[in-house]
Amino acid sequence: MINVGIIGAGFIGRNHFNQYEALAERARVVAISDRVEARRLGDWSEVGGNVGDMQGTRRDLKGAKPYADWRELIADPAVQMVDICTPTYLHAEMAIAALEAGKHVLCEKPMALTVEECDEMLKAAAKAKGKFMIAQCIRFWPECAFVKQCIEDGRYGALKAVNLRRQASTPGYSFENWLLDPSLSGGAILDLHVHDVDYTLWLLGKPQAVTAQAATRAGTNSYDRVHSLWHYPDGPVVQIEGFWDMPDGFGFNMGLTILFEKAAIVWDLCTGKPMTVFRQGEKTGEVPEVGANTGYFNEIEYFLDCIEKDRTPTVSTPQQSRDAVMIALAEKQSATTGKTVTIA
Ligand SMILES: NC(=O)c1ccc[n+]([C@@H]2O[C@H](COP(=O)([O-])OP(=O)(O)OC[C@H]3O[C@@H](n4cnc5c(N)ncnc54)[C@H](O)[C@@H]3O)[C@@H](O)[C@H]2O)c1
Repeated sequence: MINVGIIGAGFIGRNHFNQYEALAERARVVAISDRVEARRLGDWSEVGGNVGDMQGTRRDLKGAKPYADWRELIADPAVQMVDICTPTYLHAEMAIAALEAGKHVLCEKPMALTVEECDEMLKAAAKAKGKFMIAQCIRFWPECAFVKQCIEDGRYGALKAVNLRRQASTPGYSFENWLLDPSLSGGAILDLHVHDVDYTLWLLGKPQAVTAQAATRAGTNSYDRVHSLWHYPDGPVVQIEGFWDMPDGFGFNMGLTILFEKAAIVWDLCTGKPMTVFRQGEKTGEVPEVGANTGYFNEIEYFLDCIEKDRTPTVSTPQQSRDAVMIALAEKQSATTGKTVTIA
């Protein structure tokens, strides 16, 4: 049984709490820290979010110890694993403190706001006895993992093109609206689009260069939309896009169109239709079987597994999460300068 302390009981903290409940035989939440008293006591009626998780507006936290100060949660000897679900500008400080305290650390994406902060986290992790992983849930999403398998085993022939999309209404739910302050969240590129940056890295490795165009909603000072081309010498055509400038009623979509020599895989969450494979020469598509759990459940189950078996996480490594931040920032630079940016 792994004792977990969650820091940040907002949208994703509540989501993670629900995953630990589903994994009750292997983990239990023994401590919760949030700046807001009601939230650390389980009143989540003011907690919002962009993906469907309206479950549990008031929860019985079953005696999880409430902490106003996150440092006290980290110092609690009963806590073995710290799950950091706070706004991005706090990730580095909290993760480093928890690693130095000897805890296992799962930290929400993006890893941090700058590459320098990520490097400090990597340094702390290298000296730590606890495991460390950034919660890059897309690597654990069944549909996305299926695409990875298809690329690796070549069942549909050579990969020709990758198009990934993450599209949302402007998020208005976050605590004190931190998401819409680019100095705290990094804006849409670092917060939303980084999921697909990390996923593309997982699928294809680092590109040689990126070229991006971005746009800003009226009255804001950070990018709310990015369309990016990733250049691989002799590789597939890669275009990934992420934006949160859609009207309120739109909601949220994540989608992909992956073209191989002999088939295409298409999926858009917002349509409610399952991911479908269209083979060349066939008139209708087929629906492959993929797991039913969400990436949130799978990533947490995987991290618990790594702790239980004393294995270093390999599906998602902190170095790769750091590279995702680096490339997202390169895209920002490309959009700002109008130039292609070479990736080291
Ligand atoms: N993996 C995903 O799909 C996904 C989805 C949403 C958010 N996220 C990430 O999760 C993180 C949190 O986002 P969110 O949507 O849950 O935001 P949120 O605003 O809903 O929740 C953040 C919570 O942190 C608390 N908090 C702020 N400062 C604190 C402090 N010093 N100590 C303790 N608690 C503090 C706030 O009170 C709030 O309850 C971000 O890094 C975001 O990028 C990931």
